[in-house]
Amino acid sequence: MSLVLLTGGTGFVGREVVRELVAKGYRVRLLCRDAEAVRTAPWVKALNGREDPNLIEAVPGDLLDPATLPAACAGVDTVVHLVGIIAERGRQTFQRVHAEATAHLVRAAREADVHRFIHMSALGTRPDAPSPYHRTKWAAEESVRNEGGDGGMAWTIFRPSVIFGPRDRFVNRLAAFLRPPLSLLQLNTFPLFGGGRSLLQPVSVEDVARAFVAAIPHPGAAGKTYDLVGPERISLRDLLRTIVAVQGGRILFFPLPWPLARLAGTVFQLLPDPLVTTAQVAMLRDDNVGDVEPAATLFGLRQEPFRDGIARYLKP
Ligand SMILES: NC(=O)c1ccc[n+]([C@@H]2O[C@H](COP(=O)([O-])OP(=O)(O)OC[C@H]3O[C@@H](n4cnc5c(N)ncnc54)[C@H](OP(=O)(O)O)[C@@H]3O)[C@@H](O)[C@H]2O)c1
Repeated sequence: MSLVLLTGGTGFVGREVVRELVAKGYRVRLLCRDAEAVRTAPWVKALNGREDPNLIEAVPGDLLDPATLPAACAGVDTVVHLVGIIAERGRQTFQRVHAEATAHLVRAAREADVHRFIHMSALGTRPDAPSPYHRTKWAAEESVRNEGGDGGMAWTIFRPSVIFGPRDRFVNRLAAFLRPPLSLLQLNTFPLFGGGRSLLQPVSVEDVARAFVAAIPHPGAAGKTYDLVGPERISLRDLLRTIVAVQGGRILFFPLPWPLARLAGTVFQLLPDPLVTTAQVAMLRDDNVGDVEPAATLFGLRQEPFRDGIARYLKP
């Protein structure tokens, strides 16, 4: 059984990737900042089952501590690298977690003779992007492209648009804010950043996991970068309206010009778990859409429409 080292396996996307890896017959090693908590977590125990209690192993490691990476990579065939952050906190800066950590991991994987490296990036990633999230994701991609290929480690990079699924933060948090108050009018208000015209192409977490795992044995996916997007391009305004349509209530949207949206990001990001940050406001100014075809065809993605997908987990 082929062994996969997964970073970010405890996160929203990571848990779905673990499930898909196990379903496709891989053994999984999770790199964890708190390995003991992961080992005893009910979802890990449930997947491990009785037949092979070591199907999923949790090893201690921190991507900000490169000394922990060689042991994690030892004996591994494939690395699936998901770790990323949406807001900076203390030591966890975009530069460290995206750019530097990926460079360290690529090096450790190459030195351990890992054959395959599947990397999580994001749509909108480019060297001159307005948001530091995307600029540092670009630096991470560059490490994978420039250093990963040497020595026979074949890489694949995925760039998703916003990802939805039962445990997502984006839709669930918006849904919490858009929920109607307990009043007779059932009316709520919500700001539309920049008028809500930016386009998004939400993709289901199941399709993201399917693509990552299907790419591992696929010879045609080596050395390629794929957009991971859903079937529809929708404006931020329509995305919010779809959430309201699914969970009910009435909402009065009001436009918030970009300078004020940025100011809101500056204030919110001082909070421990901010609804929005300046980096996210910068990201939302760009359309976040891509080419659906190559990944959907090659990896047989289901392409679930956004409304059907969120209706599976948002309570009316
Ligand atoms: N969600 C989206 O809509 C979306 C869209 C495009 C791209 N992406 C990208 O997809 C990836 C996964 O996103 P997500 O939404 O699943 O994120 P998430 O739920 O916040 O999970 C982040 C994961 O990274 C781990 N992690 C953070 N810092 C670490 C460090 N220093 N060392 C080791 N592990 C560390 C966390 O582990 P702990 O358990 O230790 O906290 C957790 O498993 C990210 O790269 C993100 O940029 C996400």
